[in-house]
Amino acid sequence: MIGAGYVGAVTAACLADQGHHVSLVELPGPRLDAFQAGRIPFFEPGLDDLFRSSIAARRVHVTSDLEAAVARSSAVLVCVGTPLSSDGEADLAQIESACRALSVADPSTVLVATWLARPSLKDVVSNPEFLAQGTAIRDFRRPSRIVIGTEDGQASPASALVDDLYAGVDAPRIITDFATAEMIKNVSNGFLATKLSFINEVADLCEAYDADIEAVVQGIGLDPRIGASYLRPGIGFGGSCLPKELANLVRLGRTRGLAMPATANDERGTVAADRIEQILGPVEGLRIAFLGLSFKPNTDDTRYSPALSLATELVGRGATLLAHDPAVSFGATESIPGLGRAASVAEAVVDADLVVLATEWDHYRALDWSAIGSSVRSRVLFDGRNVLDARALRRAGWLVLRIGASQATVGREAVDSVLETELV
Ligand code: UDX
Repeated sequence: MIGAGYVGAVTAACLADQGHHVSLVELPGPRLDAFQAGRIPFFEPGLDDLFRSSIAARRVHVTSDLEAAVARSSAVLVCVGTPLSSDGEADLAQIESACRALSVADPSTVLVATWLARPSLKDVVSNPEFLAQGTAIRDFRRPSRIVIGTEDGQASPASALVDDLYAGVDAPRIITDFATAEMIKNVSNGFLATKLSFINEVADLCEAYDADIEAVVQGIGLDPRIGASYLRPGIGFGGSCLPKELANLVRLGRTRGLAMPATANDERGTVAADRIEQILGPVEGLRIAFLGLSFKPNTDDTRYSPALSLATELVGRGATLLAHDPAVSFGATESIPGLGRAASVAEAVVDADLVVLATEWDHYRALDWSAIGSSVRSRVLFDGRNVLDARALRRAGWLVLRIGASQATVGREAVDSVLETELV
């Protein structure tokens, strides 16, 4: 396994757990040091234990010696990052350097041909992963499908070998050509992104027409042709995959002259901040306790996090933010000017004029909101993920703003009284 990033490390630990022997190869640096010291340098539920037991069973070996690792392996998985470059293209530099290193390690490999002469790629397969952060181990063990792309779209000894790697995993197999395998991966994420942008726009409609988004989601989700998943409205989608793959689909289309507008998600931070101001008035000068910074719960990843977009938007409008997150390190947000950090929710909410829930960690659902109510200056809450029990909160004296909820459910009188007595 070349690359001990998030996907490489999870896949290595899961393959080892299935009985394979895995060399996990990483360049010298802090990440390699962490793994070699038995520490996982990022947050993924269950990975620590799985990794430790695989190391103890001597089925995973972490190394920077690519040559030795390749020499003792029957399959090499290149699992390195493909971040978006500034011009919106996937930056393939890490794949290229991994392939170059491979060709040095084993001159017979044809992988490097992808980058050089492109003769036959018969020993190469493309095996897109569909792991979601926070549930990656379960997603590996119970995937909805395993996709294997080959040069001519037919099964080959190489595809059979990859199939064997997943012998213990019960899932339909799709064997197809490279372009289609890649398209399946891109379109899966593009479709999830489309569902989310669609439901977030429906939430705007519900706000405008006093309809109930939760009931709308329930009502459409019961239609099996639509399905209920990926329809939770919120402050936008983020992470390292959905935004990137949507951008990639747009780029692929434009390269061939197809107009593919897909910018709805970029606006969600602005829409959410507008919504808050529409109800509460300008946020300038307000003290905001901001709960959640990761792009979703159960990860410390903040790449393309909608929470950070909203936080940046609110800071830009002159609010003072004190943010808490159970897993995101203070260092990860130090480059965002004006975003203060608190070590606990209790610290974040002291004297707050507004509490914003931006990422739906279980930790926040379990909070004692009555106790928090006595610590804030105003009991005003924007639930950017619609996960808290708004009725119970209202009973506890909170003014609750939700995604897709009409102003009527907030209660105009409640808003007026908060504005008059507390914010003004
Ligand atoms: C995604 C795909 O799910 C996975 O199959 C692929 O391999 C990688 O990309 P991930 O990036 O970990 O996984 O995140 P995901 O759980 O899909 O969530 C993406 C974003 O959408 C998050 O910001 C999340 O909060 C948001 N989301 C998700 C919603 O706002 N509402 C939903 O109903 C679901």
